[in-house]
Amino acid sequence: MKVVETFGLSKTYVQDVLGTEYGRIKFRLRNRKVDALKDLSFSVEQGEIFGLLGPNGAGKTTTIKILMGIHFASRGTATLMGRPLGDLEVKRRIGFLPENPYFYDYLKGYEFLQYYGQLYGMPKRRLNARIEELLDLVGLSHAANLPLKGYSKGMNQRIGLAQSLLNDPQLVILDEPQSGLDPLGRKEVRDIILKLKEEGRTVLFSSHILSDAEMICDRVAILFKGELINIGRMNELLSAKTYQYELIVSGLQADKMDALKKGASKVLDANHESMLIYTEEAQAQEAIRTAIQHGGAIRSLTPRTETLEEYFIRNVKKGGEKRA
Ligand SMILES: Nc1ncnc2c1ncn2[C@@H]1O[C@H](COP(=O)(O)OP(=O)(O)O)[C@@H](O)[C@H]1O
Ligand SMILES: [Mg+2]
Repeated sequence: MKVVETFGLSKTYVQDVLGTEYGRIKFRLRNRKVDALKDLSFSVEQGEIFGLLGPNGAGKTTTIKILMGIHFASRGTATLMGRPLGDLEVKRRIGFLPENPYFYDYLKGYEFLQYYGQLYGMPKRRLNARIEELLDLVGLSHAANLPLKGYSKGMNQRIGLAQSLLNDPQLVILDEPQSGLDPLGRKEVRDIILKLKEEGRTVLFSSHILSDAEMICDRVAILFKGELINIGRMNELLSAKTYQYELIVSGLQADKMDALKKGASKVLDANHESMLIYTEEAQAQEAIRTAIQHGGAIRSLTPRTETLEEYFIRNVKKGGEKRA
């Protein structure tokens, strides 16, 4: 079942900007149109972790806000759980963490979750049990009775995650859940997202931190300047592209080493070892033969596949040039 499906979503914002008029010393307000989203179609299957990726300004938050009914699309439509946007029954089964959430500072963690739980109309006993469970999940049991204003950025993000899960949602939509967190905090959020999948939920989240997404997403959509650049399974986007071979050798004399270095695209020397990077497998094989012939030792040969980061830079660059 498709849990999320969008059909040609487009969004044009009209921004007020202060401008000058040529020839006259005069300022006036002009409207500037920003095409934040252009004809975006994608779908998210039940039970998957789907990443909406792209740099700042790509249109991730706009997409999420449209899905959540906070903004309206200029063109196009979308469905959640097969129903048109705005369906109340569906809303009850969705959890949402906004980008840079702002919470009431003076509430304690526990009170904050109670407040939101009451908005959902959850019966008190069930709510309290759920709160305990969620505080445990996000690792904030110890801070339940501290006011939110004492929370670190990471704790804030985690209590926000707990909030998004109060209603036991089937679909969880998270806008940059890892932003502003240190590596440990990011790992914690990753683990929580994986746990949500284990529990059978569908997760749609946005991120500009590609390495985090790479580790957990089943599929990703890559957005750039409002356009879908690519969509697919992680392994389909990246797999076939073993794009370099890293060979580490030692025990070779300098002149023999030079022969190896010839075909390499990059060389790093350190501690009696050298790392040579080849773009072709045949070059790496040849280098291994030569090294062994001359009494060298092969420490390792590693075919390197592209990381999402590298893929992204390559494709976004291409996209940027094409559209420039
Ligand atoms: N409320 C708004 N009014 C005007 N322009 C906006 C508004 N929200 C976003 N934009 C513009 O739309 C584009 C996409 O923004 P956004 O969806 O926030 O991207 P992302 O979440 O990927 O960083 C940006 O150029 C941004 O400046
Ligand atoms: Mg955003």
